[in-house]
Amino acid sequence: MGEKVIPADVPAVVLDGVSKSFGTNTVLDGVSLTIDRGSIAVMLGPSGTGKSVLLRCLVGLLKPDKGRVLVFGEDVAALDEKKARDRKKLFALRRRFGMLFQDGALFDDMTVFDNVAFPMRLHTDMSEAAIREKVSDRLARVGVAHAEQKFPAELSGGMRKRVAFARAIAIDPDIVLCDEPSSGLDPVMSATLDELILELHRTLGMTFIIISHDTAEARKVADTIGMLANGKLVTFGPAQQVFAENHPALEQFFTRATVGPIKVV
Ligand SMILES: Nc1ncnc2c1ncn2[C@@H]1O[C@H](COP(=O)(O)OP(=O)(O)OP(=O)(O)O)[C@@H](O)[C@H]1O
Ligand SMILES: [Mg+2]
Repeated sequence: MGEKVIPADVPAVVLDGVSKSFGTNTVLDGVSLTIDRGSIAVMLGPSGTGKSVLLRCLVGLLKPDKGRVLVFGEDVAALDEKKARDRKKLFALRRRFGMLFQDGALFDDMTVFDNVAFPMRLHTDMSEAAIREKVSDRLARVGVAHAEQKFPAELSGGMRKRVAFARAIAIDPDIVLCDEPSSGLDPVMSATLDELILELHRTLGMTFIIISHDTAEARKVADTIGMLANGKLVTFGPAQQVFAENHPALEQFFTRATVGPIKVV
């Protein structure tokens, strides 16, 4: 597809001193991390700590006030959507991402089929026959094949989430961003989605960056675990190491304690 070949040792994502405030509300305060290609990173953190803001910075939907956001070596934060050349680069970078937004963000006026076909029509020159086949495959993988002709409003919250996941993986992205994929799903469906993530990771080598409150999910899928609290990355590293080091904030998260470094405001 004429895409630039990226050397294998360039990480999928590097954040270097990323800060973001909204007015006086400092949401991210000097966050630095590296996510290797082909890994599954799970980011944990209490509500309102900037996890979704972080994901939006990755795809250039939000600009950090400070710091670099390297995606396959390209600084997304330095790209200016108003400049034609940068816009082209941003578009090419976004093509590499699959995004599962926290609220699903399906197009309400499109059927399930058209929602999943949307990135294929936007970013590829696939034939309608090929699109049909791929949409069916994606919907079958997430167990909503029967809902192709329905509109989002006709679906349950969990079904919408699965359709959104099918759309996120529609064009075999290099990096899949999942903002709380399991919220709103029953435990069995949530486990099924985790298995799908592992399978896609194994078979297609996709890199996953998953935001989750679900500690069982983190244990099941993560190679790398990070935790954001009060604007800072309080811990980040290989899953086993992070679990072993038992950071107080992580410990509080896992034990659901109401007293600890995470303040309930
Ligand atoms: N566009 C925006 N304008 C102003 N404030 C914003 C904006 N987006 C996010 N915020 C603020 O940034 C903070 C972090 O929000 P964010 O959505 O990233 O939290 P989160 O960690 O994803 O929480 P949750 O687990 O509840 O989804 C919140 O205080 C929120 O109000
Ligand atoms: Mg969020």
